[in-house]
Amino acid sequence: MENFTAFNPTKLHFGREVIDQLGEVTLEFGKRVLLLYGKGSIKKSGIYDKVIKQLNSIDADIIEYSGIKSNPLVTDVSEAAQIGKLNNIDVIIAVGGGSVIDSAKITALAIANNIDPWAIMKYKVKPKSTIPLIAVLTLAATGTEMNGAAVLQNPETDEKIGYVSSLNYPKHSFLDPEFTFSVPKDYTAYGVVDLIAHALEAYFGEGKASLSDRFVEVIIKEAMEFGPMLLKDLKNYEYRANIMWAATTALNGMTNYGRKNGDWGVHDIGHNISYLYDTAHGATLSIAYPAWLKLQKDRIPERITKLGNQLFGTNSAEETILNLEKFFKSINCPVRLSDINIGNDKKAEIINQMLKNKINGMVHQFSDEDRKAIVDLMM
Ligand code: NZQ
Ligand code: ZN
Repeated sequence: MENFTAFNPTKLHFGREVIDQLGEVTLEFGKRVLLLYGKGSIKKSGIYDKVIKQLNSIDADIIEYSGIKSNPLVTDVSEAAQIGKLNNIDVIIAVGGGSVIDSAKITALAIANNIDPWAIMKYKVKPKSTIPLIAVLTLAATGTEMNGAAVLQNPETDEKIGYVSSLNYPKHSFLDPEFTFSVPKDYTAYGVVDLIAHALEAYFGEGKASLSDRFVEVIIKEAMEFGPMLLKDLKNYEYRANIMWAATTALNGMTNYGRKNGDWGVHDIGHNISYLYDTAHGATLSIAYPAWLKLQKDRIPERITKLGNQLFGTNSAEETILNLEKFFKSINCPVRLSDINIGNDKKAEIINQMLKNKINGMVHQFSDEDRKAIVDLMM
């Protein structure tokens, strides 16, 4: 086992009607609230009204910034930060999925340190402090509600990249599984894929960590058991709750303690596909993970075989990959680029993007030949 520091400062409120505590919790930080959300799902689902009711109950001054898109843009973060600064806000409340919460994390840093968000993302400046962030999660997938990561894209540099900092953890996160009832079937399935991919990125990281391996295995089993049941019954509270908690635990540190780091090569591939075609994050991962495993199958056969043995009772790397692919297909997620209508005519463009951004894993490093091979394996 490698040395590690366990750290997670987020207070997570999980379950039915936890939103009723939002007003009181917000008061810990002040009354001037910057409320961030996406393109409007929270208005349709009624979550917006519940949040406003809580904020009105404490006489909060609410400044709104909405319209944050899926696969969020740094330009939105810059604008939100300007508005936050002008209004001298005390706290940010982010209501949404990963895109909104990630945008809020960087907005908070940009306001507190008065710096350009992209300079933060590129680790050009080190923020010293942040504005308190409260997250109200509406989509189970990324784990951002209880971690220090944020992912943004920038059309000026052709990048979609992640930034990790201990300042990024939300102070509080509210997770009511009922808030995810309205997530459509496709995004529900992408969330299941994303959480499995997070567990796998840890599993293929560096360092022997027996307990963390077992956490990975049970989190994936949980997702494979309840994911398909949930897709047949989208308003089932228990299934939503199980998937929501599994998604949080897949990327809140638990699967990585005792390792040096996770790998994250598959995410780098996925981010570049999302960047090019605005593909949903989870959909890029159900395509990229089988391809990555095929590339690695003769390099780390024992590790891949062990995974399959635990998950599917199989005894070879090939069978592990086949079964994982079969599972992704069974929940209607794409496993090839052609499944999302990206054909051979786009191959050169994708290879260019992968080479230009030098996509890589932290442990399993890619050569340029690997970068090309991965694209072939995804076609
Ligand atoms: O914009 P609105 O109208 O809210 O609609 C959203 C969006 O269209 C909709 N949605 C969210 N909650 C809903 C809902 N629709 C109906 N009912 C609800 N309750 O779902 C769509 C997708 O939302 P988004 O926030 O983009 O999805 P997700 O949570 O999967 O986040 C994806 C982003 O997070 C990044 C991804 O790269 C991507 O940019 N990630 C962040 C990570 C982190 N911070 O730790 C790790 C992940 O690996 C990932 O990279
Ligand atoms: Zn992910």
